[in-house]
Amino acid sequence: MQTQRNGNVDQTYMKAEQKAAQYLQQLMKEVDNQTYANRLANDFHEWKKDHIHHPLKRLISHSTKSYAKHYQGYLSQLDTSGKLERYLERSIAYLYMRDLGKALNSQGTQERIKKVVQSIKPKLLANTSDSQELFSMSSLYKEAQKEGIELTMIWVMNKLKDVSAHIPEVMDAEQAKRKLIKLIAGVLMHAVEEMPESITNEERRQRLDQAIRLGYCYGMTYPFIDDLLDAKVLSEEETKQYTNNIRTALTTGVVPDLGVWEGENGELITYIHKELREAFEYITSQQTAENLTSFLEQAYVFFQAQESDRLKNLDNKDYTNEELYIPVILKSASSRFIARSVLSTEEDEGFEERTFFYGIYNQLSDDFSDMFDDLKNGAVTPYTYFLQHHKHRSDLLNPFELYWAVITYLLHDVYEKDELTREVILDRAINGLKRYKEKNGLKKYNEVMGIFAPKNSAFQQLVQNMVKKADEVDFLDKLLRDHILAELKKNKQEKEEFSSTAKEVRGKINNVLPLLKGDSIENDPIIDAANHSLVGDGKRLRPIIMWMVGVKGYGLDEKEIFPLLKSLEYMHTASLIFDDLPSQDNASYRRGRPTLHRIHPVATAELTGLFLTQRAIKEQTSLQAFKPEKVVEVIHYSAKLTEEMCKGQEMDLSSRGEALSLQQLNELCYFKTGLAFEAALVMPAILANVGEAEITRLKAFAYHAGIAFQIKDDLLDVEGDETKLGKSPGMDEENNSSTFVTVLGINEAKKEMWQHYCKAMEELENLPPQLRFLTFLLNYMIHRDY
Ligand code: IPE
Ligand code: IPE
Ligand code: MG
Ligand code: MG
Ligand code: MG
Repeated sequence: MQTQRNGNVDQTYMKAEQKAAQYLQQLMKEVDNQTYANRLANDFHEWKKDHIHHPLKRLISHSTKSYAKHYQGYLSQLDTSGKLERYLERSIAYLYMRDLGKALNSQGTQERIKKVVQSIKPKLLANTSDSQELFSMSSLYKEAQKEGIELTMIWVMNKLKDVSAHIPEVMDAEQAKRKLIKLIAGVLMHAVEEMPESITNEERRQRLDQAIRLGYCYGMTYPFIDDLLDAKVLSEEETKQYTNNIRTALTTGVVPDLGVWEGENGELITYIHKELREAFEYITSQQTAENLTSFLEQAYVFFQAQESDRLKNLDNKDYTNEELYIPVILKSASSRFIARSVLSTEEDEGFEERTFFYGIYNQLSDDFSDMFDDLKNGAVTPYTYFLQHHKHRSDLLNPFELYWAVITYLLHDVYEKDELTREVILDRAINGLKRYKEKNGLKKYNEVMGIFAPKNSAFQQLVQNMVKKADEVDFLDKLLRDHILAELKKNKQEKEEFSSTAKEVRGKINNVLPLLKGDSIENDPIIDAANHSLVGDGKRLRPIIMWMVGVKGYGLDEKEIFPLLKSLEYMHTASLIFDDLPSQDNASYRRGRPTLHRIHPVATAELTGLFLTQRAIKEQTSLQAFKPEKVVEVIHYSAKLTEEMCKGQEMDLSSRGEALSLQQLNELCYFKTGLAFEAALVMPAILANVGEAEITRLKAFAYHAGIAFQIKDDLLDVEGDETKLGKSPGMDEENNSSTFVTVLGINEAKKEMWQHYCKAMEELENLPPQLRFLTFLLNYMIHRDY
């Protein structure tokens, strides 16, 4: 079995190599004879009729450029000027050609593209008035809800989170995430495209689920195989071991065990190995026997071609054009074949031919824009190699010239002079150069154009003219790319700020929490007991939120609200002491230590709980910087809070064994848990003289956030890890408690949690911008593992 497959893949590789060699020959001939230049010049002359406008008009259309970051504004501007449809048409057509391998000259495809344009147009525009980010987790979740694939969405969002948590520092986690999202979206698009109109909802649901999972499984190989190996994170030995494992998997169809890992990156590799194995097994399980063979073959060709590029050395002076370009042709085509076979879709006529010829076009345009990064990393691409060696190697193909030859070949010989194809490909080519110029500045651009200028200077002149003067060549996918990347980076930075503030505040709170003993009594068991509970490893979430809302949100002085922060943590700790008592949850561990009643008499624990709630009030009365009425209002609010928490806790205990309704579950959680979060927001707001209306909005947010927090707590009781949690999981089942999980089951509980997450995000929209950091709090709440 093993050798047989092995034999097959090598044969496939050789056959593919031959075909690529022939293709390259043909392209080189075009370049040698310079025939491409005239052919393409004619195309440009036809094309430019729609792209060169009167200077004044151009001025107007250029003014839209500044919108690039606010993509929604940009789209509505295009709409107003009547250009949106054309824009969407070329964008969708391009995706159909690139990602679905369609021939644009087929009438069916053209009609389909028009239909897609009509269906996405209102969606893209509808979002313009809504400041909710189109690609935020809550928007994606809501989309998933409409299709009934919530669990798949939750799954994939967790996967993405794990991926970025495991990307090594030296790699760009945001780029990796963006690429992965793009690949998943691509597979999803494939699936939607193949969906017959008569499909049942259930079948549609299944196919979408499958597509998202396949998209992730296939997509994650990019960051964790290609990019990882390119980034040279692994040592030489590790790389060998790692690539051998992959080769074995592809040639035998079975992922080998990892075995002992000697290198430094054992932890990373263990994670990747597990993910890759699961991905590989999922993909292969979803395929027919026939598709499986072609998947493995193509994956092998892809891997082998990548590998041969990776092993090249930029300083080697002797690579032939064949050695440089054949792997490029192979890897770019096979990556598309893999995507295709992963989905087991039926091939339409000519798909294979088109895809084979198309790949290198895309690859050359990517390599063009990355050339200086690649050069820095010592990666051999046609562009970096040319940069390094063209002066002493007159035989070396100029990749930029080859790129135009590929385009000519595609337009004339593959896509049969189709007009829409010409439109899309030339738009794309000019857009690529414009973007390069914009990103790197005129000087760099001219320098690059000097190095790579095609021999035919009239042609080069024409191209440069188009770059200067042509407009309406931009694309939706580029707009989204920039937008998503900017969003991800901004998010990352804000999240880091949030985390570091939280950490800092937590330290400050930990410093002031322990109670001091009074002078008169040396032996003070209640104080000792209180400190036992207080100094345990608590998250201090409530006072941290309170600090952020008070100080960052409403500009209060940190020192002046410290008594308030302490009071809330005292009340919360008291509630935990009570909650753990034998008469309540009967828990043995809390905050990484034995519960209070296990090391002190139960009565001492009870009295300590009472003591702490009173100490909380005492702290509140020492809020000296504020008007007495406000302080009284805070005390009133907090006393009421304790009353209601008691009621919530009583509901919790008396509902054991009962199948509560959703409404009852929400109510119970709001009382026992949600209110304490509400307090963290509302109490500082009271002190800051925030008006009634805004306080109501804070409460609406806290309601959903608090319940989401408790559902996560219920989930952790089943899925959590004892050492991380610092308390024993499984208590809810043991106590026969009625929680979201015990009543609804894990999956439904997750959906409820996400539902509350989305509602809280919506409420956040109504709060002042300086409270935006609450997004990160929410994200933390539902993703935490302790
Ligand atoms: C635990 O609260 C009690 C619940 C409301 C679920 P936390 O999870 O905030 O506990 P600590 O303060 O970090 O120990
Ligand atoms: C506790 O709920 C609510 C309180 C406010 C005490 P749980 O009983 O689920 O909290 P844990 O899991 O013990 O922390
Ligand atoms: Mg409880
Ligand atoms: Mg409990
Ligand atoms: Mg619990």
